[in-house]
Amino acid sequence: MKQEIILTGDRPTGPLHLGHYVGSLENRIQLQDAHKQYIMIADVQALTDNYAHPEKVRENVLQVALDYLAIGIDPNKSTIFIQSLIPQIADLTVFYLNLVTVNRLARNPTVKNEIHQKGFGESIPAGFFMYPVSQAADITVVKATLVPVGEDQAPMIEQTNEIVRSFNYHYKTDVLCEVKIALSQTPRLSGIDGKAKMSKSLNNAIYLGDTQEELQKKVMKMYTDSGHLRVEDPGKVEGNSVFTYLDVFDKDKARVQELKEHYQRGGLGDVVLKKYLFEVLNNFLTPIRERRIELAKDPEYVMQILKQGTEKTLVVAEQTLKEVKSAMLLNYF
Ligand code: TRP
Repeated sequence: MKQEIILTGDRPTGPLHLGHYVGSLENRIQLQDAHKQYIMIADVQALTDNYAHPEKVRENVLQVALDYLAIGIDPNKSTIFIQSLIPQIADLTVFYLNLVTVNRLARNPTVKNEIHQKGFGESIPAGFFMYPVSQAADITVVKATLVPVGEDQAPMIEQTNEIVRSFNYHYKTDVLCEVKIALSQTPRLSGIDGKAKMSKSLNNAIYLGDTQEELQKKVMKMYTDSGHLRVEDPGKVEGNSVFTYLDVFDKDKARVQELKEHYQRGGLGDVVLKKYLFEVLNNFLTPIRERRIELAKDPEYVMQILKQGTEKTLVVAEQTLKEVKSAMLLNYF
């Protein structure tokens, strides 16, 4: 693969969980070696549905940064920055808003879904409604060519490319480039309750920073098969969260296969099975948790990394904005 410019990021509305890991963090860790990767902490986007809770966003900027570093995002390879400190993103957003219709925004499936989920009803904040345009600005401000995100973000990439094409067409330029999505190889991770999606708002997530005790509690109450009442009963593997997680996190595929067959035959109890999953997840999370605890002792060091990443991004953003403005004939002096 040629060297890509990568832009990706997360809203700082809570710490990151295993769903984030499977959906995109794993990809980002792998991609950072051979490509130029920018990772944005999307505080402006977080405010579009948390405008009344700035303290929540502020606190979670550090939490998300801790998660990135603990999981293996290397600040010497990836540039981590804070969205609100790049004013060029806001400038681009205003220019792009002219290239998008209200109807097109209303049809964006991700936004539609979220409007429903968050119960906005008739009172949708305009900033929230148009955040896909702001996301197009995030992506194009560094001229990204690749965005590693979960599948729920695919409509954002589509809309970004429509804006890129419209911009280049109307202003007879090629300053902006189209972008591809880097989707995870692993299917979306379900929640511990068996619901399709792991998410903070559904309260069914395992966080990267969970303590051993928290992890154990969550695994022990995980959804398995509601028809599996006695140990000797045959149990279902499909839709059983424990097996979903084993498929993703247990390297010993032969062992998982054996457990599946045993469970289906009957004679394998949920408690034994869950204890095994706990071991697997705990082995994965322990080094991350330990690094996170160490890093959390020195928040100034972590903020310094964000400051340096932001300064680096500003240089690139300024250059893009200059080119964009001159394509739009806004280069007055
Ligand atoms: N919308 C993303 C989310 O909710 C976060 C995000 C903001 C993002 N800007 C981005 C992701 C740009 C990728 C590229 O998770």
